[in-house]
Amino acid sequence: MRLDKLLANMGYGSRKEVKTILKKKQVTVNDVIVKDGSKHIDTNQDMVKVDGNKVNYQKYIYLMMNKPSGVISATTDQREKTVIDLLTDEYRLFQPFPVGRLDKDTEGLLLLTNDGELGHRLTSPNKEVGKTYFARIKGKVTSVDVDKFKQGIILDDGYQSKPAELNILQTGDISEIEVTITEGKFHQVKRMFEATGKKVNYLKRLRMGRLELDDSLDVGEYRELNKEELTYCQSLK
Ligand code: URA
Repeated sequence: MRLDKLLANMGYGSRKEVKTILKKKQVTVNDVIVKDGSKHIDTNQDMVKVDGNKVNYQKYIYLMMNKPSGVISATTDQREKTVIDLLTDEYRLFQPFPVGRLDKDTEGLLLLTNDGELGHRLTSPNKEVGKTYFARIKGKVTSVDVDKFKQGIILDDGYQSKPAELNILQTGDISEIEVTITEGKFHQVKRMFEATGKKVNYLKRLRMGRLELDDSLDVGEYRELNKEELTYCQSLK
């Protein structure tokens, strides 16, 4: 990769700003001053420093977000605010995208990465990674629903969903449940409940496989995955 691109990617400014940094002899490659931005850098071998500080080049970024309601799971949109709009420039430079979609009004665990392979694996129906949601449901959820979910609910378009595990936390006019599904069809949880004559009032994703939403993240906050979480995600590749 070109040196100027690498520095721009790592947040050292626009290509023009990077040019100025290079001109001022602030950049070394393997301890030799380099002023030419077109120099090719082998990110596995070369050591780049700016003002004597090592540039830790990272190709991939992995973020866990507690998605708020009101933003869409997309990279860009003409009208709506997207989850990418919530990130600082530092992270946006990596051009991450959301792994799978949460509806505009759904909150909770959303992974953002620029690692296409990982994104694909986590959402691949073949991998059957369980996604667990907490939901508040208008209506009384009963053991009859638990059985129906276990068998696989037939959705409004005739599709028979795969077996899902439904746990009732509280039942009443408004019930609280946790449900684990292994698919990601459009509005799947909402449509599964609609098929049983009930409405989802609130939906929040808690887990994807063994990756759990960090409950210290307020809605709208995000952080990089820690080593353990990353190792788990990469084990799915
Ligand atoms: N199921 C839904 O209905 N909505 C989501 O956002 C996620 C799963």
